Amino acid sequence: MSQSTINDRKSEHLTLAGLPTMQMSVTNGLDSVQFEPCALPELNFSEIDTRCHLFGKELQQPLIIASMSGGTRASRQLNQTLAAAAEQAGVALGLGSMRIAIEQPEQCSTFQVRSIAPSIPILANIGGAQLVQPEGLSHALKCIDIAEADGIFVHLNPLQEALQSQGDTQWRGVLDAIATLVTLAPVPVIVKEVGHGLGPSTARKLVNVGVQYLDIAGAGGTSWAAIETERSRTDNKAQTGEVFHNFGINLRDSLRSIQQEETLSESLTLIASGGIRSGLDIAKSIRLGASFASAASPILAAANHGTESLTEFLEQWRQQLRISCFVTGCASLRDLRYAPLITPQHL
Ligand SMILES: Cc1cc2nc3c(=O)[nH]c(=O)nc-3n(C[C@H](O)[C@H](O)[C@H](O)COP(=O)(O)O)c2cc1C
Repeated sequence: MSQSTINDRKSEHLTLAGLPTMQMSVTNGLDSVQFEPCALPELNFSEIDTRCHLFGKELQQPLIIASMSGGTRASRQLNQTLAAAAEQAGVALGLGSMRIAIEQPEQCSTFQVRSIAPSIPILANIGGAQLVQPEGLSHALKCIDIAEADGIFVHLNPLQEALQSQGDTQWRGVLDAIATLVTLAPVPVIVKEVGHGLGPSTARKLVNVGVQYLDIAGAGGTSWAAIETERSRTDNKAQTGEVFHNFGINLRDSLRSIQQEETLSESLTLIASGGIRSGLDIAKSIRLGASFASAASPILAAANHGTESLTEFLEQWRQQLRISCFVTGCASLRDLRYAPLITPQHL
């Protein structure tokens, strides 16, 4: 694919993702999960501790900035803003797809933010469809080096690719390639969707080849079908995209279905994403079995106003998470996992 096509695509994604119409009209399902309020918390607010560890590094809250950016001039600035705020707020940082850094080595530096964020986990990113191409595995290893990463996301986005003009639709062999990457990579491999969710059947296949980390990226947040529909240059393609606007398994159902299978829940560390929009959503995700949450579009909106604004935004989510703990009588994330719900049928 030509250089300008990949660059234009990333720029359009970053612009379009901010529009309210690019969000799904279905929810992530967390609205039906309600904590039983605890009017007698029997703890002091100052005791509440939301710290945790990811890949040996401490976070102030269980949050990962979702993969978004890199490869264009605007993306360089955005990655620097995300890295600076992530370092200040003590959250992890996912980089956007690094395919462009392989195809255009002069763009590598747009992903190199380790000096700005020395103490937090930084996660590289490559597509499943890139992994099966010749040298895909060595490219993935190179992405880890370029970013000095603590882990690597492999994104699975078959719907997005099918809707994109010139999308990658050769998906035979992706699972085997992931299996090989898991054995070769010097850092953990996290498999993610991009907003249509990972259901239990996909999770089982991934667990069977040794994957231990999944980022759900469920339905209920950013709709890639909507974004690709907006980018479509022909009515025909746009109509096809509209059919899939709300396609996918939502965050709640994905977490719940994976938790229900003991072999899956015991083998996996889960990241909840796809429509995470507050610290209360993070709390509910932890209650449903996730170890971390992740978000893209609201973080992009805050980052567009600069590092200070994004740092404040992340701090606000941490405060909302701490209040969620207080009003459910939980002193820690571990306690939150057992907080009573009003709707136990959603467990
Ligand atoms: C502007 C933008 C760019 C994105 N680029 C990537 C990417 O390069 N690689 C990837 O794995 N996911 C990418 N995503 C998907 C997000 O990482 C995330 O999985 C998805 O947007 C769901 O989260 P949300 O509902 O909080 O936006 C992107 C999302 C947005 C909004």
